[in-house]
Amino acid sequence: MTDARHPRLAHPDARRPRLLLPAAALAAAALLSALAMPQGAARAEDDQAKLMKDGARSFNKCKACHNLVSGPKRMGPDLKGLFGRKAGTYEGYDKYSDAMKASGIVWDDETLAAYLENPKKVVPKGSMAFAGIRKESELTALLAYLKAETAAP
Ligand code: HEC
Repeated sequence: MTDARHPRLAHPDARRPRLLLPAAALAAAALLSALAMPQGAARAEDDQAKLMKDGARSFNKCKACHNLVSGPKRMGPDLKGLFGRKAGTYEGYDKYSDAMKASGIVWDDETLAAYLENPKKVVPKGSMAFAGIRKESELTALLAYLKAETAAP
């Protein structure tokens, strides 16, 4: 008698949609996570490429005075091996200011960010005629670019 009044409850197929939903959700989740990995990796590559492009554009402000590694003589020292280098010690460059030579700075992410943001604040009597880069995103890109490019032999 209950069967007749509530056919859906008694029907063997009645519960199927409820089981299908989680199954579909699981399948979708599995598909998404399978897709997410290569997508994430591709995005990281895009980000890195953009950083290098922006950094190279920013370095246009420096390249009249600096070679990334080595090259023809310029007003400023070559930046070869910059990270980890002591300020004012590039061999073959003899125009460092006394202030730079005496600064005691070792170039790393932090010291370079401060110097390039405001050279005169970090080395007040230094001789680099450059106003500085105030835009944080540009500075980040420039530092990433310098790190990649000045490490070349
Ligand atoms: C007008 C020329 C000029 C421009 C433009 C310029 N620099 Fe310099 N840079 C110099 C000179 C000259 C020095 C040496 C400063 C001193 O001895 O006080 C120097 C020093 C440096 C140093 C210290 C290097 C060392 O061996 O200790 C770094 C790093 C540096 N510059 C990076 C940059 C970057 C990056 C840019 C662009 C955002 C830039 N400079 C723009 C002329 C320039």
